[in-house]
Amino acid sequence: MCGIVGVVGNRNATDILMQGLEKLEYRGYDSAGIYVANGHKSSLVKSVGRIADLRAKIGIDVAGSTGIGHTRWATHGQATEDNAHPHTSATGRFVLVHNGVIENYLQIKEQYLAGHDLKGQTDTEIAVHLIGQFVEDGLSVLEAFKKALSIIEGSYAFALVDSEDTDTVYVAKNKSPLLIGLGDGYNMVCSDAMAMIRETSEFMEIHDKEMVILTKDSATVTDYEGNEIERGSYTAELDLSDIGKGTYPFYMLKEIDEQPTVMRKLISTYADSEGNMNIDPAIVKSVQEADRIYILAAGTSYNAGFASKTMLEKLTDTPVELGVASEWGYNMPLLSEKPMFILLSQSGETADSRQVLVKANEMGIPSLTVTNVPGSTLSREATYTILLHAGPEIAVASTKAYTAQVAALAFLAKAVGEANGKAEALDFDLVHELSLVAQSIEATLSEKDMIAEKVEKLLSTTRNAFYIGRGNDYYVAMEASLKLKEISYIQCEGFAAGELKHGTISLIEDGTPVIGLISSSELVAAHTRGNIQEVAARGAHVLTVVEEGLEREGDDIVVNKVHPFLATIGMVIPTQLIAYYASLQRGLDVDKPRNLAKAVTVE
Ligand code: F6R
Repeated sequence: MCGIVGVVGNRNATDILMQGLEKLEYRGYDSAGIYVANGHKSSLVKSVGRIADLRAKIGIDVAGSTGIGHTRWATHGQATEDNAHPHTSATGRFVLVHNGVIENYLQIKEQYLAGHDLKGQTDTEIAVHLIGQFVEDGLSVLEAFKKALSIIEGSYAFALVDSEDTDTVYVAKNKSPLLIGLGDGYNMVCSDAMAMIRETSEFMEIHDKEMVILTKDSATVTDYEGNEIERGSYTAELDLSDIGKGTYPFYMLKEIDEQPTVMRKLISTYADSEGNMNIDPAIVKSVQEADRIYILAAGTSYNAGFASKTMLEKLTDTPVELGVASEWGYNMPLLSEKPMFILLSQSGETADSRQVLVKANEMGIPSLTVTNVPGSTLSREATYTILLHAGPEIAVASTKAYTAQVAALAFLAKAVGEANGKAEALDFDLVHELSLVAQSIEATLSEKDMIAEKVEKLLSTTRNAFYIGRGNDYYVAMEASLKLKEISYIQCEGFAAGELKHGTISLIEDGTPVIGLISSSELVAAHTRGNIQEVAARGAHVLTVVEEGLEREGDDIVVNKVHPFLATIGMVIPTQLIAYYASLQRGLDVDKPRNLAKAVTVE
């Protein structure tokens, strides 16, 4: 969702911006643009569609050493060139890119910008006109920027250039992600490290309501009053090879394939060589003290919360409640006496989840963010963080982050259970069981061709489908159906198998695809098989994904048996491949499904 990249210094800005924007493509966007300046000569190029479309419009004369670029995911106004960033002030002197939503933009327009002619419908254009107006009124650029920031309400990451003095990029941030990249003779600003890692591995955080005055040799952080803030830099763990696709046709397939490695990485990170849990004792204590764990998340991360619920409850003896972050941010239900909030978020930047965290912090509730991105907003603002160590996830459809979330929570659950002296936790050999999970994933991955063939028969023409399961299989069905919907555009519901007959079974007709998930006990399996019979009797075209030991003749995909606490990981893998092949066979862009963004930084 909207990406920003900017550079000032001794480098080829056009090249850096275009490479950076390509690296930000995964976030989701529908138009893009760059502004590049060389002294007083400058170029502004925008395009609707892909970065490749923008590139096609860039001639050799678009050159300079200062520049800002942007990928836009439309919120205010359609995806048109006029609405694409960068935007310019009334005289064209100031150029701005923005990520976020300015809530009071209409008030600003009414109060400060009477008579201003605006080219598009965006909130951003109003912000740059406002800055330009304040300079026209006699303020210095810095004063005008500060004054605008004191008026603007909402979320933003801004990078501003004054075309009359292009040696400085003015940066500010509130709620939207933004980082500074430090180079030798040049400095950069960007929505995430991935877009800058080719140029530098040295980064500096910007916190909310801070400004940065960026020149080729300095990055000065201040608050909005202009007081300087000391901020150290850090070296990112990220490797350039982590963000390449290698020989894979799509990132999603690469990331599905990486899951056994991620499981092993989690073992080496969160257990020592003797198998003892290596989880921060302060986190363990905080969970021990809670009378209820609340997991707040969105989308796939929300589903990962469900996939971990049974295990967490059984090992910690603490009830676990799930909340959709976008609901809880505004409608917090009655909480227990000693709540503990766990924010699950691959990106660590989801605005809906952050809204809940802001509330939790106001209420003094201890919080833990489980995320793949160190230094992300949710990580910084929560009391504690557990990192997923899954490596960058670039495909919009989340796969390895989901399984890593469940596995990371298993370490936490076991550590808490052990600290409570619970026999079930002490007996649970997580290191061994998780290595079996890694093997189970490998076994499923070796069946890709067979799965692709079955998907072709089941889903090639359908417009809708169902996943059904009971207990943990129902939780996996929720994630499986989300994955299928988002990348194949097949309307798919994940249903509790026993609930189907209470209404939804009326949708089953001749040829409706129904995928039955069967793990857990014989009893659960028998009941789900009964529900499968019910839909088959009504003409459904059924495919079964069954855990080893429960299979029967005619079952389609058999998954190696793993420990019941971790079964949601093993069972989800075939469903990731089902979604992947359904999308691939329809000729869709698997990694960049329409309308979706990877990091959803608006509420
Ligand atoms: C789906 C997907 C999304 C995210 C959701 C939350 O494949 O990736 O549903 O899970 O937008 O994102 P994070 O986990 O970054 O908070």
